[in-house]
Amino acid sequence: MTRAVCPGSFDPVTQGHLDVIARAAHLYDEVVVAVGQNMKKNSLFTPEERVELLLEACSPWPEVSVTLFGGLLVDFCAERDIQVIAKGLRSATDFDYELQMAQMNRTLTGVDTVFLPTAPQWSFVSSSLVREVAILGGDVSPFLPPGLADRVVSRVQQVRNQPGPGG
Ligand code: PNS
Repeated sequence: MTRAVCPGSFDPVTQGHLDVIARAAHLYDEVVVAVGQNMKKNSLFTPEERVELLLEACSPWPEVSVTLFGGLLVDFCAERDIQVIAKGLRSATDFDYELQMAQMNRTLTGVDTVFLPTAPQWSFVSSSLVREVAILGGDVSPFLPPGLADRVVSRVQQVRNQPGPGG
């Protein structure tokens, strides 16, 4: 039994993420989608909300589960007996960052990373760009699973209407 993890912040999950998760599900017996917190990013949805959105989007694939994780990804892999980290690669910029993490993770515990080239139609899509386009009033529905664009737009409006730190 080979178990893989697809880790990410998924804020929000995009069609690009789902393409990688579906392909990993074809390659491995089980896929765990692990929602982590990227310390360098401000989030739109809470980690729990992101899990809920992923559970809905991944419901067609019975071999895929979704969970939160904290701490080191390699520790999560060891606890869950996960042998492979599966990640999508969109560009050379992704590669530089991902290679560094893959090498660090392999050095820490020996867990290997497999890169899946992103499907060309999603290669320009990222959660951060989706958030930016939504904040500026653009249509993000083509990049998201059905129904999620409405939730992104209402969350953006909610955040905009919140009083700032000064009240
Ligand atoms: O979607 P992202 O923002 O690229 O996801 C990044 C994430 C959460 C997968 C990455 O930051 C991560 O693996 N964090 C866990 C902490 C960790 O193990 N850090 C050392 C990485 S070598």
